[in-house]
Amino acid sequence: MPSMNPTDTSACPFHNANPAAPRASGQDPTPIATGWPAGPARRFMGWHLLRAMARDPLGCLAQWRDIWGDLVHLPIWPEHVIVVNHPGLVRDLLVGHHDRLIRAERAIAVFAQLHGHSVLIAEGEAWRRRRQALVPAFSPREVQAFTPALTQAVSEALDAWPQQPGVWPAETALTRLTMEVITQMVFSTRAQHDAPALEAAMHDVTVAANAELYWLWSLPDWMPHKWRKARALRTLRGYIHRQVSARSVQPPQAQPDDLLGRLLSLHRSDPIGWPLSAVEDECTTAFLAGHETVAATLAWWCACLAGYPEARVAAAREVDRVLGARAPTAADLPQLAYLTATLQETMRLYPAAPLLFNRRCTQPVELGGHRFPAGTLFMIPVHALHHDPRWFAQPADFRPERHLGGSGSAPRGSWMPFGTGARVCLGQHLAMSEMLVATALILQRYTFDLPGGAGLPPPRLHISLRPQTPLALRLSPREPAGTAAGQSATAASGC
Ligand code: HEM
Repeated sequence: MPSMNPTDTSACPFHNANPAAPRASGQDPTPIATGWPAGPARRFMGWHLLRAMARDPLGCLAQWRDIWGDLVHLPIWPEHVIVVNHPGLVRDLLVGHHDRLIRAERAIAVFAQLHGHSVLIAEGEAWRRRRQALVPAFSPREVQAFTPALTQAVSEALDAWPQQPGVWPAETALTRLTMEVITQMVFSTRAQHDAPALEAAMHDVTVAANAELYWLWSLPDWMPHKWRKARALRTLRGYIHRQVSARSVQPPQAQPDDLLGRLLSLHRSDPIGWPLSAVEDECTTAFLAGHETVAATLAWWCACLAGYPEARVAAAREVDRVLGARAPTAADLPQLAYLTATLQETMRLYPAAPLLFNRRCTQPVELGGHRFPAGTLFMIPVHALHHDPRWFAQPADFRPERHLGGSGSAPRGSWMPFGTGARVCLGQHLAMSEMLVATALILQRYTFDLPGGAGLPPPRLHISLRPQTPLALRLSPREPAGTAAGQSATAASGC
């Protein structure tokens, strides 16, 4: 793990808080505590905390929050890590102090092996330039315009799902479905024959990245024992490279209006600022960030609705009422309020990114009555925030009603599956539309439950939060809505 800036050791509040440190703008002049907030004792340089986190990150963070409160100090040599457990403090940090933060170097180094210098990885001016260039392609208006293609890609993927009742490997099928959507959005193609190799590569690269996150440094990828990861990187990069190369020789007027077409137009107008390598990096990030998180969330949504049949029946009724048997359009999506709430509740219980990238402050930061020296690391445990009984009564229960208008009193920032502040998820509108379309189409076509009356699977943090064992569903095809058989299927199955 990289060390704190050595020039700042005198500013360590353990020793001698720097009285000249500038105050954050907008901060009221409440007395600033000296010393670090409370937290578990340091033993063995604090590395036992890192080991405990590697074993059960979500359990550890929830336990430390319950014992130590809103700011927890983890002294993990050579770092001082502060876990921020209060939504207001998270917003103060990520919104108010955004200009003083970078993402922790170790995680970024691991992710950069795959994402290059894309918007996910870049900092400072390089990030601002990329983000500004990409925002229009992910705006609500663009997502609306993409909805017909999205609906078609999802419908085609669902056509491959079974027509007879039986047990179905839903998680694998959902990963395939989200891959088809994202390749349509980025490249105007379907992954089809490439999909199995890409899925295998995603698995290998995720296993490797997950392990490396807890190492102090990475051994080179040419080491013999890393052959799987090296092969996976070649597969993923090779796929993106082939897509970009094939399109870059097409004349501008022949380019489809997709993300790659827009990036290539940036490349043509500014080949130095946007070399083809930068185009490839952005395509890689959109491809990876754009399907893995959505697939994980859809898998959890299926598990939740299978485990809570009354919610599935209510959501199916809403879909029948709003859509009947036709496919959803962009104009339909705001009408699906209950279905939206089931997705929001799924993301509360099982946020695909249960920990944001750790942030390091590059200048002193005042937070929650403490002044933290430059170099302090901040951890934002989204999963623990989402399970805090102060904001969510019976936090382990699946209750979509929490998210329906007027029923919630949770403070701003207590629900943040897409992060918050300037680095909030670029693809959140796309993700929500895609998930609404996919879940509406699934409910139109199927009723489902967990095979053998199994309970919800426990989660496993593997970069994104996935079920510990791949999710399978027992599917039963429905008659189209509007028919007597379709209506009795919704009513009878479940409650
Ligand atoms: C359920 C689906 C998704 C979830 C839960 C999710 C979650 C997140 C979160 C939490 C962050 C912020 C990380 C941080 O602050 O440390 C993020 C960033 C990002 N997401 Fe998503 N995401 C989803 C879907 C997507 C999709 C569909 C795309 C694009 C196709 C996408 C592209 C990105 C990008 C490019 C960033 C980096 C933004 C930046 O640093 O400026 N995400 N996502």
